[in-house]
Amino acid sequence: MTAPPDGPAPTDGLPVETTGALLREGAERLVLSGSETPRLDAELLLGHAVGVGRTVVLAHPEAPVGADAARRYRADVERRATGEPVAYLRGIKEFYGLAFEADARALIPRPETERLVELAGAEVMRRLGASARDAGARPLRIVDVGTGSGAIAVALAVSLRRLGALEAVEILATDISTDALDLARENAVAHAVAERIRFAQADLLPGDGADGTDDGGGFDLVLANLPYVRRDAIAGLPRATSFEPALALDGGPDGLDVIGRLLDRLPGALTSGGGALLEIGADQGEAIVALAAVRLPGWRCEVELDLAGLPRVARLGRP
Ligand SMILES: C[S@@+](CC[C@H](N)C(=O)[O-])C[C@H]1O[C@@H](n2cnc3c(N)ncnc32)[C@H](O)[C@@H]1O
Repeated sequence: MTAPPDGPAPTDGLPVETTGALLREGAERLVLSGSETPRLDAELLLGHAVGVGRTVVLAHPEAPVGADAARRYRADVERRATGEPVAYLRGIKEFYGLAFEADARALIPRPETERLVELAGAEVMRRLGASARDAGARPLRIVDVGTGSGAIAVALAVSLRRLGALEAVEILATDISTDALDLARENAVAHAVAERIRFAQADLLPGDGADGTDDGGGFDLVLANLPYVRRDAIAGLPRATSFEPALALDGGPDGLDVIGRLLDRLPGALTSGGGALLEIGADQGEAIVALAAVRLPGWRCEVELDLAGLPRVARLGRP
């Protein structure tokens, strides 16, 4: 095989280390540390240290690994053993088929959120198709509330670009965290959609015009994956989540504090035919319907399931 970029190494009389041996060593260390995915973690970290994909590492257990790469790998295995997420160590997380920059400024995008992007893409295309849109038609206005790494806004923009529909929408992405917004901007630049997404720091949505913005209302589609973990459940989450911003997880005593506040804002935020798609926890299907009945009487609230048949996204709109 072609040697990985970092190897073979000058051995200084030491035996040459191989990918297979390093993988075994790393996986054993991570089993002891309590990782739920020790072998996968070791494969990803070795690939990262050597500068190749995980599958290359897997396919060539006999390949020599350079001393510098082996050192980097062992250092990352030790950090992983303390619980630090693999995505933060690699600085990257795949989401919706795209590579997102990932670091401690924002939540690592989760696979379950891909369902929201999928539903949002379908909803945008339905709305664009339903109205006769001539050249002068107003763009569809979309907001991603609590954008974090920018996962939803950026993945949606990339998928709309592929469908030739990006020019027909305006996307705003908000977050209360300026650190998260910085990361989201970097991801938008990396995927060449930065000029199609505006970013704004806000508690949920920008003001109603009093602060000089008019971004608080008039949206056709509100998207959000806001914090929805019950506060008393946070301590029981996998250790890796303790490295993520608490602001991204803490949904208050019943998990629905922040989402509930967004429900209160929807009547002012949505156009008359507008709708919202909000990610919820798998055990919050009934709770969100009950909450919507109280906060938004008469509104539709349906729960969309994920591929495993679990409640995943609440779809809301005026009757
Ligand atoms: C669960 S994370 C989701 C991040 C991203 N949307 C995703 O799907 O990966 C929730 C995000 O909401 C943000 N957030 C929490 N409270 C907020 C608020 N009141 N207004 C705006 N953003 C908020 C957090 O900073 C965090 O980035």
